[in-house]
Amino acid sequence: MASILIIAASDGNNLKLAEIIKEKGEEMGNQMSILDLCAVDFPLFTNARAKATETLEGLSEVMAQMAAVDSWFVVAPEYNGSFPSILNNTIAWLSREGDDFRDLFNSRKVGLGTHSGSDGIYVIVAMRQLFSYLGCNVLGRTLRTSYSKPANPDTIVAMLGELEK
Ligand SMILES: Cc1cc2nc3c(=O)[nH]c(=O)nc-3n(C[C@H](O)[C@H](O)[C@H](O)COP(=O)(O)O)c2cc1C
Repeated sequence: MASILIIAASDGNNLKLAEIIKEKGEEMGNQMSILDLCAVDFPLFTNARAKATETLEGLSEVMAQMAAVDSWFVVAPEYNGSFPSILNNTIAWLSREGDDFRDLFNSRKVGLGTHSGSDGIYVIVAMRQLFSYLGCNVLGRTLRTSYSKPANPDTIVAMLGELEK
């Protein structure tokens, strides 16, 4: 059994996808949870705001939730050939938290998924670069869904199987 956190970077179809992954992971006997970044809704990171904010409400809880699990399954829609700003914004705030925020990312196993308008290739490439840069071990296999392509349960099971190891 593994503990897997699904990080959702949109509260529409991607949150629905997160729920599907959660259900599948629980059927497989894993401890599954969802972090809905839209519900957390951190303010936009700017230098001025960062300087003026000693403690950002909810940040240490998010960090603790991310640190407490074995691996992450990140789902995000493609926005303009990349990922939504809420994902990078969350990571920007996290990067100011603690002594070495890279501890949170180093060697963390990460699966990537998307529900996007088209095939979601660009958001997957962008997230792969982001999480690899941060030191994570990103799975080769990805979950790509769209309005015309429902989530493939075999892919979800295979990816969760990798994240469990
Ligand atoms: C600001 C914005 C930019 C978008 N850019 C793209 C894009 O570059 N490529 C794409 O395939 N879909 C794009 N879409 C469509 C979304 O990826 C698609 O509607 C997705 O399913 C939304 O996910 P959600 O329902 O979880 O919010 C964009 C949507 C928005 C709102």
